[in-house]
Amino acid sequence: MALQISPSILSADFARLAEELDRIADADWAHVDVMDNHFVPNLTLGAPVVEALVKVSPIPVDTHLMIEDPDRWAPAYADAGARSVTFHAEAARAPVRLARELRALGVRAGLGLKPATPIEPYLDLLPEFDMILVMTVEPGFGGQPFLDVCLPKIRRTREAIASSGLDVWLQVDGGVSEDTIERCADAGADVFVAGSAVYGADDAAGQIKRLRELAAAACAH
Ligand code: DX5
Ligand code: ZN
Repeated sequence: MALQISPSILSADFARLAEELDRIADADWAHVDVMDNHFVPNLTLGAPVVEALVKVSPIPVDTHLMIEDPDRWAPAYADAGARSVTFHAEAARAPVRLARELRALGVRAGLGLKPATPIEPYLDLLPEFDMILVMTVEPGFGGQPFLDVCLPKIRRTREAIASSGLDVWLQVDGGVSEDTIERCADAGADVFVAGSAVYGADDAAGQIKRLRELAAAACAH
């Protein structure tokens, strides 16, 4: 299982996004949170800004769509150049059709779950996805405390992926930090989103390295 770090630019300085992306050049992905002020009570940016970010980002862009009607809007993020597009199970009308459409556009398709959404109704859909995103905060804002109640779901999802034999990544997002990443890795996550933990650090590259080491050590035992 290759561990990957995907810092969220939600905690970056939005007036200097190109420079902020350069600060995380050692990470695997740049996590971009798209919020529409309907699915979540916050508003960030849309496909034109993602297209601009893709052009300057030193690493691939991982979009996390916290929006209503992803069936209509998600393909635009593939067209914008994102390499991974995650939409939410709670918002999608036809998740299988949308995942297939995204894959046909050449991007990785991800399925996001809010803390109260179980994985079980979606287990038969694992072959349709490249990644499952288990939220460990209520989506909408950076800097919230990690919800330990989500750990059993991470564990169950990892077990289901392992028994399926599929190469589906398991991303964890929300409150991931030096204090919580080991718990996530131990439960089976392999892609770690961290916003405030990375952008709140003076040395973002050093923090990415530290998070990677902690996750790897937790996986080793
Ligand atoms: C929250 C977003 C996260 C957020 C994480 O709804 O999906 O990606 O940026 O921020 P931290 O790591 O500060 O919890
Ligand atoms: Zn996110």
